[in-house]
Amino acid sequence: MTIRRILHYPDPRLRRQANPVLEITDSTRRLVDDMAETMYQAPGIGLAAIQIDEPWRIIIIDISQTRDQLQVFINPKILSREGEQELEEGCLSVPGIYEPVSRARQIRVRALNRDGQAFEIETEDLLATCIQHEIDHLDGKVFVDYLSRLKQTRIRKKLEKRGREQGAESPRSEYATGRESTAAVAGRTRLKI
Ligand code: NI
Repeated sequence: MTIRRILHYPDPRLRRQANPVLEITDSTRRLVDDMAETMYQAPGIGLAAIQIDEPWRIIIIDISQTRDQLQVFINPKILSREGEQELEEGCLSVPGIYEPVSRARQIRVRALNRDGQAFEIETEDLLATCIQHEIDHLDGKVFVDYLSRLKQTRIRKKLEKRGREQGAESPRSEYATGRESTAAVAGRTRLKI
């Protein structure tokens, strides 16, 4: 497994429409494994393939405190949405920025798992927000798109400046490398999806 570089907003590659996965092969599973390694190391609770420059409709999520409940959604599709909730979101592609976003509170989703089997789940609260945030990535959307123009401009400028300072090619983590302890992850409640 390889830790891959995460693209940062406003990288135009985050704006692409991801392609459906037509066949789940060993290389698909290798990509899922790389995504998991990258997400856990970051650390974050969700990642879309497009964020590591792989324009395929694959997302992974792990909202468990123990960091061992990986959920894989290939070609995910939201079948229904109900209610509304506002949670503060962050994103591994928008480091250091956290803003409230309003989304459906409850959703029904259909997808394929890592083995290519179809499944459907109905979910709410945090997981519902995570899935909607990640599916947005597959459609070239980032959570800052929901904010005011003024905020979007401010965030873009801030991240462009930071990108220039850090140099575009080095892999970045806001924290020390290596997998964090469960307590450290649990202690930080902000959502990096
Ligand atoms: Ni994100």
